[in-house]
Amino acid sequence: MASLPSSSLLNMLVVLTILQVPYTSSFTQFIFGDSLVDAGNNDYIFTLSRADSPPYGIDFAPSRGRPTGRFTNGRTICDIIGQALGAKRFPPPYLAPSTGDGALFQGINYASGSSGILDESGTLFVGRVPLRQQVDYFEQSRAHMGRMAGDGSTKEILKKAIFSITSGSNDILDYIRPSIPFLGEDKVSPSLLHDFMISNLTIQLKRLHTLGARKFIVVGVGPLGCIPFVRALNLLPNGRCATEANELTQGYNKRLVKLLNGLNQEFGPEAIFIYANSYNILIDIIRNSRDYGFENVSDPCCGGSFPPFICFKGNDEKTSSFLCKDRSKYVFWDAYHPTEAVNIFVAKKLLDGKDETVISPINVRQLYNYGL
Ligand SMILES: *[C@@H]1O[C@H](CO)[C@@H](O)[C@H](O)[C@H]1NC(C)=O
Ligand SMILES: *[C@@H]1O[C@H](CO)[C@@H](O)[C@H](O)[C@H]1NC(C)=O
Repeated sequence: MASLPSSSLLNMLVVLTILQVPYTSSFTQFIFGDSLVDAGNNDYIFTLSRADSPPYGIDFAPSRGRPTGRFTNGRTICDIIGQALGAKRFPPPYLAPSTGDGALFQGINYASGSSGILDESGTLFVGRVPLRQQVDYFEQSRAHMGRMAGDGSTKEILKKAIFSITSGSNDILDYIRPSIPFLGEDKVSPSLLHDFMISNLTIQLKRLHTLGARKFIVVGVGPLGCIPFVRALNLLPNGRCATEANELTQGYNKRLVKLLNGLNQEFGPEAIFIYANSYNILIDIIRNSRDYGFENVSDPCCGGSFPPFICFKGNDEKTSSFLCKDRSKYVFWDAYHPTEAVNIFVAKKLLDGKDETVISPINVRQLYNYGL
């Protein structure tokens, strides 16, 4: 504690309180990404991409079914994994005014709906925090932690924390969305899109590493060709997925695997990057939906089966959008996002999966126990 600089007494008290908790043995995660893992950041910015009204969150027990900014009916994959590994709380959204300095040491959620790896992705939704800016925010958090607890302790805490990055879907969705003429967008080739995504992601992963992150989970992009929004764009009948969108996604995921292998060679064994193949997990759920107990893989539970797919609740049934009766029987909650029922299956495979085509080189539980 010798190197505590000009911290206020309050800061010191916060630090002392935290230091008494055996936080190094509890699960700490820092979350980056898009709406798949946003836990409320977009509630605090001006954006069309928000999940702050019912029925979003209808199955989220801690809020008694009230919306929290999560883009699903219940918990996200990060929530479920955290609980399974004994986290005492869900990492709070960075932008929530109630997220105080003391929270930094127990993990923060920087994710933002409609954001992508590329700064310009998601422009259509106006406000969002792109991945680069999420890492900027973490950089500020990191500096603050250093001032509060000293650089040495901060490094130790970050070394054991898990950094998950779930981004890329919106870069690809922007690419396949019909372009808006007056924006005069020029489309680059698919391989150049992949180049941009990979090179920009590389920069952010290396920045996080420089800031002290050592245990990374990087989530690939899921089968976007199968989500109700993209199926509707392509006028596909039930049970069919858009091939082009899925190929674009798989092309990116392949590049991502190469990148992570390279980073493991460059920074291992003092850092480890695991790849979460959400594509394979979701395709398996969609193809063998009955085995998982799902009855409806094509239509969203909330918002109806046709564009504009808006999921909302009015004063009564007449002024509300369609809401399915049994949410556990649907793969998709709305036109973009899976239900909590799906998130539970995905989280389970990421946590304890033994299959290299699903999670590699080790699973999340092994990552958590990985001694660094
Ligand atoms: C990041 O992506 C942008 C396109 O959004 C691209 O112009 C830029 O070259 C990329 N950065 C790097 C370092 O490749
Ligand atoms: C899926 O759900 C939608 C909306 O509830 C319904 O119209 C459709 O018939 C269902 N499809 C199947 C295959 O059950």
